[in-house]
Amino acid sequence: MGGTERVRTGIPGFDELIEGGFLPGKAYLVTGPPGSGKTTFAMQFLVEGAKNGEKTAYVSLIHNPKEVAKDFERFDPDVWNYVRNGNLILYDLGKELWGTKAKPPQWSSVMFRIKDLAQDAGIARLVIDPLTAIDFPTTDPAEKRAELATFLRTIEELGITTVLVAELTELDRYTEEHYLVDGVIMLHYYLDGVKMVRALQVLKMRRTHHETRLYRFEFSSRGISIRGPLL
Ligand SMILES: Nc1ncnc2c1ncn2[C@@H]1O[C@H](COP(=O)(O)OP(=O)(O)O)[C@@H](O)[C@H]1O
Ligand SMILES: [Mg+2]
Repeated sequence: MGGTERVRTGIPGFDELIEGGFLPGKAYLVTGPPGSGKTTFAMQFLVEGAKNGEKTAYVSLIHNPKEVAKDFERFDPDVWNYVRNGNLILYDLGKELWGTKAKPPQWSSVMFRIKDLAQDAGIARLVIDPLTAIDFPTTDPAEKRAELATFLRTIEELGITTVLVAELTELDRYTEEHYLVDGVIMLHYYLDGVKMVRALQVLKMRRTHHETRLYRFEFSSRGISIRGPLL
């Protein structure tokens, strides 16, 4: 009855909302507006694995991943130990993709590179931040769907639990990745009266009896932590 073992995210209060954690080998989308906490969420997920001796990788498509680790240092100074011992690989794919070329990269080549890295390094937890960076007006939706579906199938076969970060562009529009992934977590960040409120919502989580209510969360000294339901 217990079913599959769950992958704990390391985000205090979150695993309890989703039957104990993610399903191994599945892919989850974390989406929300700028500053809502997506990158912090993703880093906490990786560091939780690295702490337990797993190999993890943060694939950055825009920011310098070293800066991301530096931001995270405040929540866990051990982050650099994990980088040093190889349990947290920082992969600056953005620099490689946009460094010299004038032409935007293709979904196929980006996905292939990430798959190769994850496979060669024996990665257990993977983050791609932000996946939306490989979307262009020229992107063919059919090609994207096919590439993403193939990629998700491969990482599942490799048993890699993945968090895909997506920038929220249009509130009323769901993109390919929302449908293809096994779970969608929305980080809300909005004005209520004169105060900004942070709240997390599990929109979709396959094979999981999950909460659907909005849960307030905060940035504590250890990173994101879930408080109570927003009533
Ligand atoms: N120590 C902290 N205390 C309070 N809020 C913080 C702290 N560190 C970061 N933040 C908040 O988190 C935001 C950045 O979070 P981040 O995970 O990078 O968001 P996103 O990736 O969604 O843009 C900052 O803009 C700030 O509002
Ligand atoms: Mg970010």
